[in-house]
Amino acid sequence: MSLIPPALPPHLLETQLRRLYGHSEGFDAWLLALLARLRDLQALRPSTLRALDAQRRADWFCDQRMLGYCAYVDRFGGTLRGVAERVPYLQSLGVRYLHLLPFTRPRAGDNDGGFAVADYDDVDPTLGNVDDLVALSARLRDAGISLCSDFVLNHCAEDHAWARAARAGDPHYRAYFHVMEDAADVADWETRLRQVFPHTAPGNFTHCEAMQGWVWTTFYPYQWDLNWSNREVFAEMLFALLRAANRGVEAFRLDSTGFLWKRRGTDCMNQAETHWILQALRAAVQWVAPAVILKAEAIVPMRELPPYFGEGEARGQECHLAYHSSLMTAGWSALALGRGDIPAAVLRHTPALPANAGWIQYVRCHDDIGWPVLAAESSGSGRLRPFALAAVAAHFHGVGDSDAEGEPFQTAPTGEVHGSNGMTAALCGLSRARRTPDRQTALRCAETRFLLMYALALAAPGLPVIYMGDEIALDNDHSYRSDPARAHEGRWLHRPLMAWQSPSQPQLADASASRIQTELRTWINLRQSLPALRLDASCTVIDAPTAVLAFLRENSLLAIFNFSKQMVDMALPQGTWRDLRADALLHGSLPLEGYAAHWLQRTSETPP
Ligand code: GLC
Repeated sequence: MSLIPPALPPHLLETQLRRLYGHSEGFDAWLLALLARLRDLQALRPSTLRALDAQRRADWFCDQRMLGYCAYVDRFGGTLRGVAERVPYLQSLGVRYLHLLPFTRPRAGDNDGGFAVADYDDVDPTLGNVDDLVALSARLRDAGISLCSDFVLNHCAEDHAWARAARAGDPHYRAYFHVMEDAADVADWETRLRQVFPHTAPGNFTHCEAMQGWVWTTFYPYQWDLNWSNREVFAEMLFALLRAANRGVEAFRLDSTGFLWKRRGTDCMNQAETHWILQALRAAVQWVAPAVILKAEAIVPMRELPPYFGEGEARGQECHLAYHSSLMTAGWSALALGRGDIPAAVLRHTPALPANAGWIQYVRCHDDIGWPVLAAESSGSGRLRPFALAAVAAHFHGVGDSDAEGEPFQTAPTGEVHGSNGMTAALCGLSRARRTPDRQTALRCAETRFLLMYALALAAPGLPVIYMGDEIALDNDHSYRSDPARAHEGRWLHRPLMAWQSPSQPQLADASASRIQTELRTWINLRQSLPALRLDASCTVIDAPTAVLAFLRENSLLAIFNFSKQMVDMALPQGTWRDLRADALLHGSLPLEGYAAHWLQRTSETPP
């Protein structure tokens, strides 16, 4: 295993910057100035972080003991200091990687949950200040937890200093954005672009009087897309990222990476230049702050994902981590339709990753579940029978006899299925069961489904991330509807406020919350003891009945999930197996209860 720090800037930095910006005037002098700034940032890196750089192995995040937790600072701990007080709680869960949603200073007013950044170097004053951030990252590091921060690459807020200068007529800053002066031009680009928020923010451009034109705004009108074809944007963003790294951020979630480069005649997603930008960022990070890792937030179909880890001569030189949104979405589809063959197909088509790279596995996050990533799979491929994403979404919206309580996101009553909102408890039927008069059976069934989803995320290849509040089965939070600042944004349904008995113990709503907490901790502890669940351990899907997903990790750990309500008989591969939860020896076949999850360890190649 290699130790990370190279002494010289990796050659990919220069290669990719030349490809991106080599044609621009004075490129060589610009590149030399950039390298000089990087050396300064290297020199400014605090000694504790340099020590980390020196000691960290390239595969440090691949250990099976890595467990992530994702939270909003305010909803989880009030402030950054409040989060620091809750470090022992996170430790007790086994967390080693804490993704805090954006805590940088956002625009005033509506800000897309912090994703409209007014200043990349400042902390949201309602959450604390830069000193609190430095203190929190150090506190986490002492506890063996790496801080992951969002880095909103694609856009800044319309009240960021760059956008204000552009509006005031400064041509230098106008060039930081994509501005169209002609309505016909806007219409031409629009013909090929997707819409991320078709209901609340239709279209991809916003007219701005002061700019005398239309500004590119893929997301909300107040989020101005940055023009990455301008080398100054690259430099400013890289320096901002490295300053955050020098404050102790150890991992960056690169927000909306797929959208960075715009090319006429395309949907402007996943362009080759986007990958060159990410590779150049990675190369600079590796030089200045080698302990730091990058995570792609590219919620795109599986065929578009492998390039985010780097391909060809850049294989393994791009992002260290990327969300496996196809498996997450396939897991929910399986639950709705009783079909384990859907995630089985997704896993079969998941390519092996380069060394020292891994997936993020998750059940829920702060965003909706975006169904279109499974468009190709849903139309059937190979042995996989087609399935209707609309039927899957309808299930989670409680249509028919479903007991789920999710809600549609940005979906028209007719038209393409978009996304679904809701906490795991609501989507698994636990919230409804909690209100059912004769509830024991319904509760147990819903809890089993809930744990099935988490047992899958904990066993699948990757770094599993628990979403805030799931560990105590929090329900949906409807309070946003009466808050005028949030009422238009359905994703607040699953951004609940954590209530605490003490900083080390959240309030548990009921016996279900307590059972989910206990069970989840048991699965987590088990995972930690199993090297076959390292991020980079192999994963082989094995044949199973349609309702069942079964895969082998490292030929020694067999994970089995029954996505149907019915009992199903599963033929086990040759050998003797120990059921790690039941502590029973098995061979031949295993009868699976409805929604059961089992992890079996091979104890010998032959039956007893
Ligand atoms: C990412 C975030 C999402 C946000 C969007 C725009 O997809 O996860 O919450 O709305 O980027 O920044």
